[in-house]
Amino acid sequence: MEVPSIPAKKKAKTNGMVINKWNGKAYTRRYYEILEKRKSLPVWAQKEEFLQTLKSNQTIILVGETGSGKTTQIPQFVLDAVHGHEDAEKNNGKWLVGCTQPRRVAAMSVASRVAEEMDVSIGEEIGYTVRFEDCTSSRTVLKYMTDGMLLREAMADPILRRYKVIVLDEAHERTLATDLLFGLLKRVLKNRPDLKLVVMSATLEAKKFLEYCNGAPLMKVPGRLHPVEILYTQEPERDYLEAAIRTVVQIHMFEPPGDVLVFLTGEEEIEDACRKIVGKLGDQVTVVPLYSTLPTAMQQKIFDPAVENRRKIVVSTNIAETSLTIDGIVYVVDPGFAKQKIYNPSNRVESLLVSPISQASAQQRAGRAGRTQPGKCFRLYTEKSFNNDLQSQTYPEILRSNLANTVLTLTKLGVDNLVCFDFMDPPAPQTLARALNDLVYLEALDEEGNLTRIGEMMSEFPLDPQMAKMLIVSPQFNCSNEILSVSAMLSVPNCFIRPRGEAQKSADEARAMFGHIDGDHLTLLNVYHAYKQNNGDSNWCYENFINQRAMKSADNVREQLIRIMSKFNLKICSSDFNSGNYYINIRKALLAGYFMQVAHLDRTSGHYLTAKDNQEVHLHPSCCLDHKPEWVIYNEYVLTSRNFIRTVTYIRGEWLVDVAPHYYHLSNFPDGETKRVLEKLFKKRGSHIPK
Ligand code: CDP
Ligand code: MG
Repeated sequence: MEVPSIPAKKKAKTNGMVINKWNGKAYTRRYYEILEKRKSLPVWAQKEEFLQTLKSNQTIILVGETGSGKTTQIPQFVLDAVHGHEDAEKNNGKWLVGCTQPRRVAAMSVASRVAEEMDVSIGEEIGYTVRFEDCTSSRTVLKYMTDGMLLREAMADPILRRYKVIVLDEAHERTLATDLLFGLLKRVLKNRPDLKLVVMSATLEAKKFLEYCNGAPLMKVPGRLHPVEILYTQEPERDYLEAAIRTVVQIHMFEPPGDVLVFLTGEEEIEDACRKIVGKLGDQVTVVPLYSTLPTAMQQKIFDPAVENRRKIVVSTNIAETSLTIDGIVYVVDPGFAKQKIYNPSNRVESLLVSPISQASAQQRAGRAGRTQPGKCFRLYTEKSFNNDLQSQTYPEILRSNLANTVLTLTKLGVDNLVCFDFMDPPAPQTLARALNDLVYLEALDEEGNLTRIGEMMSEFPLDPQMAKMLIVSPQFNCSNEILSVSAMLSVPNCFIRPRGEAQKSADEARAMFGHIDGDHLTLLNVYHAYKQNNGDSNWCYENFINQRAMKSADNVREQLIRIMSKFNLKICSSDFNSGNYYINIRKALLAGYFMQVAHLDRTSGHYLTAKDNQEVHLHPSCCLDHKPEWVIYNEYVLTSRNFIRTVTYIRGEWLVDVAPHYYHLSNFPDGETKRVLEKLFKKRGSHIPK
């Protein structure tokens, strides 16, 4: 039996068994079974060519059809090439091969797969790191990670000392973090001739990478895509969810065997669709959901082969577009939408919006049907719409984001002149200026753009700058304990379970029990406290329609945030619960971080207007407030049919003057009712009205 890259004399044998060089144990039967399958992946045909190219170049660009084995195999090839024959024990954290993924689910699931392929335990020789979860050890030699995590590592170690090779995977996704890593690595490679970079991408945009990585060789892995028949609808669909479910049912009734992949936009929609499909087809089919917040145990189910004679139906977000390959898919249902980030720098609104995908995405989606045999892709839009309405490529995320965090990260990384940073696609100057301004308001940067002590601390928190600021100042309001809990709750998936049908009313009643009269942030705090009082009991969670998994993560996140707070000697404290100031202090601390997300009730129209930008917004239906306070603070702007603000808490106007006078300074405030009210507040406060 052949084990890759180990010279025959090195094969230690015990009882005729071959020893795994990574952990010193005999290979299991499973290892050989998977090895056979791996060898049939297209990248294996080019293994030697790849290793030769890697040897003689510092940077390589590798482009290949999705499913050709890039993510799972290439890092293993790299490992064999750089590792030589020392064992993992001796390595003891000295060096690593890192492979970045834009999505956390992909990082986790691919790492598990590769651990299985190498016949080692996950978290030992093969590990992963995603935000708030580090599953690695000192033995780890290959680490899958989100691009954001590598960026964070770079902040602590700008030349990425421990890495021998970095694989930037899914580069075509052009996430914000990957784009920043590109620019950063370009600098690092100059200073570290021993470091190598492998850029991997699906078959898009290769030209752009070639131009950017001047001189790097391009290696192509030919796909072996079978023909995919594209079917369009004759008329536009009014309701894509309903149309998608109908199409699945039709495929199941009229098409020959083969699994189905349906693209939808988010967890709630996907769970809803799964229920409805099961409702119509019962156990004739196996329905599996796939989205980013899916519990780890469920993630592996996606790859289980379908039960014999039973069609598998995977209902997924665009994770399955290129990040994860599911074998056996013959039919793709593509409604043409995805949840995408958009940003409008003129009113500073960043929001996730369900919007049409690009033609390039549509082609990727269709391709998923032709991996193993000829397939069909059902596009739930017209051919005319494909040609005329869809843009050809998805814009890089850097052009669709609020860049406050990016600017903070780059400043921390020592990039003083943002305009000169080597962006693959430079963001609009207006967006950069806005980000700089916001960071000055948050006191992370001084007027000259230098990182302040606060900014230094903020950059250490894996959170958005406003939340980081809120945590840092919370001891001054004597409520860091509570702000830690609120921040943790805001950083995990929604803790409230809201089933459809009969149980919905009970769920809403249970939720109302946690409601705090002053708003949603405090409601979240109530939930957290109740959860702790009940020792995280699963029955308690069940009875109260609380998502236990979300609560466990909140607990974990909170622990990690405490560690960062302690590092900076920030006091962990609470006000006296019975003092009457307990909640007031918490609300003031919220404002000290989120003073740029305040809305004011316009009495004439009865609508809220965001302070300064004067955007009309509405309280989200999930909001627990039973009245409309004059001033509110919000966590999130949600664009749907209306502009909603979600997770909202009542604050008092006077506090704006006390807590954020620099932001509410009248001299740079647009005219309008809000300004008139502020003027009165400044007067009442006895503060002289700034000109
Ligand atoms: O990165 P690329 O799209 O080129 O391919 P890959 O993700 O490395 O997938 C190669 C093969 O591994 C596919 O046949 C996947 O179905 C399989 N795979 C798996 O069985 N389980 C996983 N968790 C990940 C991949
Ligand atoms: Mg891949």
